[in-house]
This record gives sequence, structure tokens and C-alpha cells, in this order.
Amino acid sequence: MALKLNAITFQSPTCTSFALPPVATLRSPIFCMASTLRSASKVVKTVKKPFSPPHEVHVQVTHSMPQEKIEIFKALEDWAEDNVLIHLKPVEKSWQPQDFLPDPSSDEFHDQVKELRERAREIPDDYFVVLVGDMVTEEALPTYQTMLNTLDGVRDETGASPTSWAIWNRAWTAEENRHGDLLNKYLYLSGRVDMRQIEKTIQYLIGSGMDPQTENNPYLGFIYTSFQERATFLSHGTTARLAREHGDLKLAQICGTIAADEKRHETAYTKISEKLFEIDPDATVLAFADMMRKKISMPARLVYDGRDDNLFDNFSAVAQRLGVYTAKDYADILDHLVSRWNVASLTGLSAEGQRAQEYVCELSPRIRRLEERAQARAKQRSRMPFSWIYDREV
Ligand SMILES: [Fe+2]
Ligand SMILES: [Fe+2]
Repeated sequence: MALKLNAITFQSPTCTSFALPPVATLRSPIFCMASTLRSASKVVKTVKKPFSPPHEVHVQVTHSMPQEKIEIFKALEDWAEDNVLIHLKPVEKSWQPQDFLPDPSSDEFHDQVKELRERAREIPDDYFVVLVGDMVTEEALPTYQTMLNTLDGVRDETGASPTSWAIWNRAWTAEENRHGDLLNKYLYLSGRVDMRQIEKTIQYLIGSGMDPQTENNPYLGFIYTSFQERATFLSHGTTARLAREHGDLKLAQICGTIAADEKRHETAYTKISEKLFEIDPDATVLAFADMMRKKISMPARLVYDGRDDNLFDNFSAVAQRLGVYTAKDYADILDHLVSRWNVASLTGLSAEGQRAQEYVCELSPRIRRLEERAQARAKQRSRMPFSWIYDREV
């Protein structure tokens, strides 16, 4: 999935939105909502090392939700407490990484590690490339908490805000934090991967951040998170199935347990969007179409190991080949969400809303045609070395 970035627009003294002039001519701009002016995807800067991979930065849209809609989210506080927070698990009932790992305080520790390594030996390198990619993605959690806290009306304003939205943001992060921890420790013990290269990749990825193009707009943000949680549910589910096929039931359990968390998170985010479809269908369907037009970019789009400038594409090709995350999954998620939110039967929409409805309802066949090509390309792709597995080729 290619990352496509947007035009930033700025607020003039009279609050007229205008397209961005070259960035160097502007100082301390006041950002203003103007998603309608997003036409150009103009490169304003090329970022080079040492903190992130070389990549182009495009102008970006910010605060596209009208200010008065913040009230909607304030009014939904109690609803969120009753309907969203229930999808979090109390800490005392939550699994912890240690439940799935050798116990370092036990006399059996070395034997348990030996068994883990024997099981890991049976798993092919391409699987490890995908698992490392998944782990690195999970480990960039600071970026995702930041992303949630960019959203107007639902951000954690203080770091310890008592609103339902802020409680969700923190507790969601705390649940997610176990995913990277568990996969990281498993991979460390497996002895199959170059931990130093992986750790560098994590440092680069957190330093690079992500641009989901959600414009501080919770309508866009919750479409994005609904999609993304389902994508991670599917990909961890597939790595669980493949681990089982390779005879490693413990690893299958690890991936399956993480997938179950992602499913709960998906349920919560899709419920929030469902509520927005109920109370503000026009804005929500426009947001859905907007996110799909821009394409849902993967959180690890800027992944880099200090060596491979095309690491994301190379990793994605392996994930596509193994069926861990494919263009078909992308179309399936879209179909799932269209039906989950009953988008086809929304009524009372504006003309623009109806066009957005039509667009999302008719999009999936087009993506499926692209999928066939992506599948063919991934199959043809020659073997590539990955530093994560000591430059062995997959
Ligand atoms: Fe996760
Ligand atoms: Fe997640």
C-alpha cells in the first residue's frame, strides 16, 4: 500500500484557506481545516538520514473537523464509557508476555529456551522476516499513541485526563504494549534473527513516525483505526496458522493471543464509527470515502534498517507471498466494514454524501483486480537479502 500524503493548508489572517506556498517561505503557520483543498500531493522536502530513511515529505492537512463537532465527542463521553471501555480487559485478567515465555527464575529456564529454539529451527526464514516486520510494527507503539492523541475532541489533553476517550487511549496503548514485548522476547530467544539490526530498525521507525492522513479528525482517525486493527487481527491470525503448520504450537498460541486482542480493539473502533454513522452519517461516509481514496497506509510504511531503502516494499512482498497480509485482505477489510456499517443502506445523505457512499460501495472489485497483479508481482520478485536474518535471502 503506497503512502500518499496531502497538501497542508494554512490560515491567513482573515482565515481564508489557501494552498501551501513553498515551505521555506512560511514561518510558524497557523493550521486550518481545509480538506476540500487537498488536491496537490506536493513534495515539500526530502528527509534524509540519520533519524529516518530517506523519504519525501508532502504537505499535510490538519484540523479538518469543524470546531463545533468537538461537542459531539464531548456528548458521547458516557456512551463511550458504556460501549467502548467495556472492550478493554482489566489488568488482573490480562495475559502478560511472561505467560508465554521461559521463566528466567526457574531451574528449567535453560531447557525451556532449548525447546523454544528447537521448535524455531523448523520454521523457514521467510516466516521470520514477516514476524520481525510484525514485531517492529508493534514496537513503534509510541507513534500510534501519539497518533491517537492528535485527534481533536478525543485526545488525552493532560496525559492523565479522566475522560472516557483518554482512558481508552492509555489503556489501549497499555494492552498493545504487550504485543511488541512478547514478540521481541520470543525472537530474541529464538536465536534466528539479528537482534541488533532489528533494534536499529525499531529506533529508526519510531524516529520516522507515520502519516496516516487523519488530519486531527476523529471521523478519519476512527475509520483508520477500525481498518488497521482488523488488518493486524488478520495478519497475526495468519502467522498463528502458519506457525501451527510449521509444528510450533507455542508460537501459534503467541500469535493467536495477540490476534485476539486486535479483534477486541477492532470491535471497539468499529463501534465508535458505527455510532458516528448513526448520529452524523453524512460526515462519516465522507470520512470513509476520504480515507479509502487516500489509501490506508501501513503504520510501518517508513520502516528502515539503515541499509535497505526499499525495506517496506521488500517486507510487504514477502508478507504478500506468504499470504500474511495481502491486497486481497485489503479488499476483504473494505467489504467487511461496508457491510458492518450498513453503508449501502444509509439514507438522507447530501449529494456529496451519496457520491461517497457509491464510491466506497463500488470500490472493492477495483482493488481485487489490482490484487491479482500484486500477487503476480510478489511471486515473480527475485529473492532479497534481509539484514534482520543476517542477510540471508528469501
Ligand atoms: Fe498490536
Ligand atoms: Fe492493534
